[in-house]
Amino acid sequence: MDQTHKDNMHAITKSSILFLCICALTSVTSQEVTCSRPQDRALSSRQSWRWWLNKLGDTVRYTCRSGYRSTGGVTQATCTRDGWEPNPLCQEIPPCGTPPPLEDGDTKTAMKEHYSHNETIEYMCQSYYIMEGEPYKTCLYGEWTGHMRCLRPCIVNEDEMSQHNITLKSSSTKYLVHDEIIEFRCTRGLSTGTVAMRQRCNSGVLVLPTCRE
Ligand SMILES: *[C@@H]1O[C@H](CO)[C@@H](O)[C@H](O)[C@H]1NC(C)=O
Ligand SMILES: *[C@@H]1O[C@H](CO)[C@@H](O)[C@H](O)[C@H]1NC(C)=O
Repeated sequence: MDQTHKDNMHAITKSSILFLCICALTSVTSQEVTCSRPQDRALSSRQSWRWWLNKLGDTVRYTCRSGYRSTGGVTQATCTRDGWEPNPLCQEIPPCGTPPPLEDGDTKTAMKEHYSHNETIEYMCQSYYIMEGEPYKTCLYGEWTGHMRCLRPCIVNEDEMSQHNITLKSSSTKYLVHDEIIEFRCTRGLSTGTVAMRQRCNSGVLVLPTCRE
């Protein structure tokens, strides 16, 4: 073998080693990360084909079975080196306990110990009480939502009226529901004018006018 040939052989060997190395490296770095179909039983079985043949960075829109929701409320899963994110894909929605009591009111139906997500309960007020707000509370993700209260009626006291030198105007009644209007007249003298003779019941509070000679 002459020297030139030897050099050439050497060069070939060198370059092929280099080539092999690059090849091996690229094959490691480009080795595809794939995510297999998740085995989450809480996952909705609809459109399960979307979970096949997913590579790193791919996203899949998904929903969870009833009674579950996606972790963090996300709408899509992402294929990462550690598998599908979020992990777990679905989480159980917690139930609600007994709904809170309503002052001067009650639930329309008997209360249960547990309520599932989205379940609604209707409330009502005692008679003569007026409900402020919607009469429903809804169990949402383990918490009761919805607010209402029962507004008190007003009852006019005879003694208080006589102390103020007033009485009811003929058409008025002694029992008023919230927001109802009552009218008084003087039994002695004239109205002092500081409080009007027509008053509105405001959640159990009624201001009485006064008359004086
Ligand atoms: C809850 O109820 C609403 C409307 O009533 C519905 O759109 C929603 O899908 C329900 N969610 C669940 C988890 O059942
Ligand atoms: C009711 O009328 C009498 C007689 O005018 C007066 O003395 C009294 O102060 C009045 N009551 C009030 C609460 O003003």
